[in-house]
Amino acid sequence: MQTRTLGSTGPTVSALGLGAMGMSGAYGAADRAESIATVHAALAAGVTLIDTADFYAMGHNELLLSEALRSRDRDSYVLSVKFGALRGPGPEFHGNDGRPEAVRNFVAYSLTRLGTDHLDIYRPSRLDPAVPIEDTVGAIKELIDAGYVRHVGLSEVDAETIRRAHAVHPIADLQIEYSLISRAVEAEVLPTLRELGIGLTAYGVLGRGLISGHWSAGRTAGPGDFRAFSPRFSAGNVEHNLAYVEALRRVAEAKGCTVAQLAIAWVAAQGEDIVPLVGARTRERLAEALPATELALTADDLAEIEKAVPAGAARGDRYPSAFMSGLGVGN
Ligand SMILES: NC(=O)c1ccc[n+]([C@@H]2O[C@H](COP(=O)([O-])OP(=O)(O)OC[C@H]3O[C@@H](n4cnc5c(N)ncnc54)[C@H](OP(=O)(O)O)[C@@H]3O)[C@@H](O)[C@H]2O)c1
Repeated sequence: MQTRTLGSTGPTVSALGLGAMGMSGAYGAADRAESIATVHAALAAGVTLIDTADFYAMGHNELLLSEALRSRDRDSYVLSVKFGALRGPGPEFHGNDGRPEAVRNFVAYSLTRLGTDHLDIYRPSRLDPAVPIEDTVGAIKELIDAGYVRHVGLSEVDAETIRRAHAVHPIADLQIEYSLISRAVEAEVLPTLRELGIGLTAYGVLGRGLISGHWSAGRTAGPGDFRAFSPRFSAGNVEHNLAYVEALRRVAEAKGCTVAQLAIAWVAAQGEDIVPLVGARTRERLAEALPATELALTADDLAEIEKAVPAGAARGDRYPSAFMSGLGVGN
């Protein structure tokens, strides 16, 4: 497994990260034993970056990772943890809390659930509009000084917020959606990250499965599956979007790889400062994703891929409308 360093101050991690969100029901029911086996398979393959959040099924995801990582050397993996989203037992969302006292509370619970004495990267999942980002990052800086956290990360914020946060403490990486069908970061955010020496961990590189080559218009998303509410998967939009996946499939076949591998490799090819996170929740999906880091794409390949899926091709917002205003960039 190749490695990449997150920004000029961040940790060196595997060129592909594992996102654990889907292991706690974000895409419908997940099998616990298979999820843990997937984490173990990822570690065995050299994946060192593992992403989670305290609000992924209200602590469930952290407890799952704690079990999966229990016998592992703590220095052999990098834990990226998000906080701030407020949930209810429903389990509805109730906004975000970035107050310093809330940050201290969140980290105490995450450390306990994860069974560790420190988090490698700690990041607010969304901006709390009521709290200056300086205050939230300042609270994480205090946690770094106290030894509970190693690096500050951000998630889904705009270029101005990145600058303000970075002025308080160097930011290791920004986590944000980036894929062939979500390229809004390219306009302002990515140049800002590069100017400041901040890495990018890209999520949704498979468009949450839409551009993985495994989705079909007839496939229905079950209860609790994000895709049941995602505008890009809704009737009318999904057929339009899947036509681009078929164009991508033709490029993949010519290249001798799968659609998912091509989609991941395209993101990885956008810069050495970018680490794609994949949301594999089974060993089978992980095994497909892993070789993507070895797939070398030529300038001709990149042109073919972007001809198959031009920028802005996808129909539908990347989140349901109630969540769009909380994002740092559009689609
Ligand atoms: N910062 C943020 O706001 C934010 C938001 C969302 C996610 N994230 C993080 O980013 C991680 C990855 O994002 P994501 O899971 O939403 O997006 P993703 O990787 O684009 O989509 C994951 C889904 O794609 C499908 N898939 C099909 N083939 C696959 C393959 N070969 N490998 C992996 N998945 C395949 C799987 O669904 P099936 O199993 O149903 O086939 C899987 O659940 C998350 O786990 C989370 O840690 C962060």
